[in-house]
Amino acid sequence: MLRLENIVKTYVMGDATVEALKGVSMRFRKSEFVSILGPSGCGKTTLLNLIGGLDSYTEGDLVISGRSTKEFRDGDWDAYRNHSVGFVFQSYNLIPHQSVLANVELALTLSGVSKAERRKRAIDALTRVGLGDQIHKRPNQMSGGQMQRVAIARALVNDPEIILADEPTGALDSETSVQIMEIL
Ligand SMILES: Nc1ncnc2c1ncn2[C@@H]1O[C@H](COP(=O)(O)OP(=O)(O)OP(=O)(O)O)[C@@H](O)[C@H]1O
Ligand SMILES: [Mg+2]
Repeated sequence: MLRLENIVKTYVMGDATVEALKGVSMRFRKSEFVSILGPSGCGKTTLLNLIGGLDSYTEGDLVISGRSTKEFRDGDWDAYRNHSVGFVFQSYNLIPHQSVLANVELALTLSGVSKAERRKRAIDALTRVGLGDQIHKRPNQMSGGQMQRVAIARALVNDPEIILADEPTGALDSETSVQIMEIL
């Protein structure tokens, strides 16, 4: 359902250019679990950002469900990001002064479901990652591992077709990591 064809990503900073991806081709089927491994700086986050529609490629093509993203307008990217992809960032990206529940509900605000349904789904997702009893805390009152579980609940709450997770268990102890990978 996802196909990368010779994807090149070049970052330009003044006179310096960094070729972060040098022609990556790969395919992902539906119902597939794929891990991407490599040393720091090899381009893993760059690749996930491109697949998630958070950044643009320099050359090549990303084909989503048979459709070239070269034809995508802003609205197509918005729909893809809102409905098809759930993203778990390396650095959580939670809103510190809002409750855990509000952070997860926020991911549903553009989805057109009612407030009551948003609340129900958010509590459900938080329960799945073992935080059902912590929903009224704020992220800055939680451990790193708990914050990452909130971020995972936020990615799951839309029931997306694709979950992109950038080192999702990096902050978790090995026992919790196993639980999270089972959920994913
Ligand atoms: N916004 C940016 N501007 C310029 N260069 C960047 C930018 N983002 C990443 N890079 C460079 O692109 C290369 C790939 O970075 P990327 O973050 O994708 O690596 P990574 O594999 O995720 O590393 P890590 O395991 O440390 O997270 C690195 O050389 C990095 O310095
Ligand atoms: Mg990275």
